[in-house]
Amino acid sequence: MISIALDGPAGAGKSTLARAVAKELSFIYVDTGALYRAVGLKFSRLGYDTELNCEIAPILENTKVDIRFIGDEQHVFLDGEDVNSLIRTPEISMMASAVSAKPDVRAFLLELQRKLAREHNVIMDGRDIGTVVLPDATLKVFVTATAETRANRRYKELADKGMTVSYDDILSDIIKRDYNDTHREVAPLKVADGGIVFDTDNLNFEEALKALLDIIHRGVEK
Ligand code: DC
Repeated sequence: MISIALDGPAGAGKSTLARAVAKELSFIYVDTGALYRAVGLKFSRLGYDTELNCEIAPILENTKVDIRFIGDEQHVFLDGEDVNSLIRTPEISMMASAVSAKPDVRAFLLELQRKLAREHNVIMDGRDIGTVVLPDATLKVFVTATAETRANRRYKELADKGMTVSYDDILSDIIKRDYNDTHREVAPLKVADGGIVFDTDNLNFEEALKALLDIIHRGVEK
């Protein structure tokens, strides 16, 4: 099986790129952030905020997170319910970042991710795919861009969907999440050993996709 690990900070364009690459190569695209979002949703539904003032393990014992592919679209199930449409809110983004710092949560989601890579050719996006989940991935790419570029892209994306959002709020959320994701003790966001840093700052989507496919063709054919 071939596995491509795509790590990087929030809003770097990983998911859009990974989806397009998966289509081009007929791989499965696994969005691992959605798993953390589903766990974040669970804790939010139980009434906890990002402080997570609770015992994590007993709650996870009564939690089931699963991924199913409907067509080539990934759907995340939380305790048997398809929660895809509920996990993209700013509140759940912050909850996902909070639960993702908990070692029990990371351990809870690890085997599911590894199993997908054992069974399919995958391009998997996340924060620790090349460092922890698939350290033997065929290719590891770290996608990045400045916080301002990422906030700008997210702003345009939401504005295009007709949502009223503030650029400053988006930028401050991104900076906060970058801090959480790079400073946590378990599996912090960083470039994997042997990882290729791919800076998308000055590239539009088409240019970034072409550059990434070049990196993949070179890396996978090696
Ligand atoms: O990629 P995303 O924005 O959907 O991820 C949501 C949160 O989950 C993000 O703040 C960090 C965390 N995450 C993680 O810790 N490890 C991953 N492999 C994927 C996401």
